[in-house]
Amino acid sequence: MSTELEMAVPSAEEVAAQVVQATLDYQVEDRIVPAGDETSPWIPYGGPGMYIRFLMFDVRRGRFAVLLRTEGEAELGRHKHRLQVDGFTLAGSWGYREYDWVAKAGDLVHESPGAIHTLYSGPEGMLVYFVVEGQLEFFDENDNLADTQDVFWFINHYVQYCKAHQIPVNTQLWD
Ligand SMILES: [Fe+2]
Repeated sequence: MSTELEMAVPSAEEVAAQVVQATLDYQVEDRIVPAGDETSPWIPYGGPGMYIRFLMFDVRRGRFAVLLRTEGEAELGRHKHRLQVDGFTLAGSWGYREYDWVAKAGDLVHESPGAIHTLYSGPEGMLVYFVVEGQLEFFDENDNLADTQDVFWFINHYVQYCKAHQIPVNTQLWD
């Protein structure tokens, strides 16, 4: 028995057209994120001679994108990730103390959840684009958890630096 509440079943072609329209109506537009010298400063991070530039904070997914740069040899403490990290090498050389390979310009590094590693850069320094998911857990020499850094930790690191140096917070960095 049919009622007025029943909806007509659309054809496959009608659904396809509806999906195209829904995409046009609800998609998020492409956008550019200003993140150059003037709009996202190099901020000291991790240790002597190491700097981070924030490109994107995605608080819904606990994800962020950065450039990490060192001037010569530098090291980031031993840490573990709970989710995946990808690092694309733009310049220089770098690796982890725990492995014998070295990443150079053009190399992509996958960091796997659960692995513990200690990042270092070579004598020429490094410039690497990282997309980080989840937190970094830093461990001391006795394997005790010493620090946890998630997207909110990095947001605070960025905002506090801006406040201390009278730099406007670039809200376009938030995804
Ligand atoms: Fe890592």
